[in-house]
Amino acid sequence: MEKIDHECLAKLYEAFESHKQVFLIMEYVNGGSLHGYLKGKPNRQMAEIEAKFLWQQVVFGIHYLHQRNVTHRDIKLENILLDETRTRVKLIDFGFSTCIPHEKKVKIFCGTPSYMAPEIVSKIEYSGPPADIWALGVLLYALLCGRFPFKGANDKELYQNICKQDLPLPDHISRQARALLQKIFHKNPDKRPPIKEILRDPWLQFSPRDNEMMSPKSLSLINHLKHISGINFGGQVHGSQSQNKQMSKTMGSFNRTTSGFQNQSAEPSVDF
Ligand SMILES: Nc1ncnc2c1ncn2[C@@H]1O[C@H](COP(=O)(O)OP(=O)(O)OP(=O)(O)O)[C@@H](O)[C@H]1O
Ligand SMILES: [Mg+2]
Repeated sequence: MEKIDHECLAKLYEAFESHKQVFLIMEYVNGGSLHGYLKGKPNRQMAEIEAKFLWQQVVFGIHYLHQRNVTHRDIKLENILLDETRTRVKLIDFGFSTCIPHEKKVKIFCGTPSYMAPEIVSKIEYSGPPADIWALGVLLYALLCGRFPFKGANDKELYQNICKQDLPLPDHISRQARALLQKIFHKNPDKRPPIKEILRDPWLQFSPRDNEMMSPKSLSLINHLKHISGINFGGQVHGSQSQNKQMSKTMGSFNRTTSGFQNQSAEPSVDF
């Protein structure tokens, strides 16, 4: 893990062990978790523009891991930390992560129940990346809807619903976001889009209107992450010329007066 070096993943500087404990010296991320941040929002959900911006950073981090045959296996709100401006995202907790070729299947029951993919809860052999993709879908759903997509009175019922229930999609979710969620929540892991395809999904491309609502630093960060991903996006996030000149590693915040951060949806919250 010490070799892992990406801006959306908390850096592990050093690891050493005593006869009783393992010590990890990590980059300190001081803005609390996405879980705590979301809980403070009206209806525990966020506007699509903000969800797009934060979730995309997690997707870039996972893309970096998947390229290196690493699967995280515990993507969830609690394992995503924010910087003090609540705009930069760092994924933590590599306790369940594995580094095995993607074509090799495993049969390990791990993760967090609400985020588990059908193939995990069915206890069949599965390949790691599609299960991470499913968990990313649960994460996005939680950001947009203020609740988890599948629920149950107990784990058994939850697992049945994960395997059988159709995806409940509230009306306030945009057409593009719905299309992406439907692709991600394919019960068949082989049919789920790989991480690279998700990064290219239309919903994740910032429209000119989105760009107007984002600060120059936020636009610069997205352009920078696109650049280092090695994926050809066929263009940049379009900001003004002066905005695009800035390629800062530190980020400011959205323009809160125009970003629509206050979520308008009246969807009730039930979980987390
Ligand atoms: N790099 C970091 N910067 C700031 N806080 C961190 C960092 N890494 C971990 N934490 C804090 O420690 C908590 C537990 O860390 P982590 O998620 O890695 O372990 P865990 O196995 O999930 O532990 P737990 O069972 O307590 O959730 C996190 O929820 C977070 O609050
Ligand atoms: Mg954790």
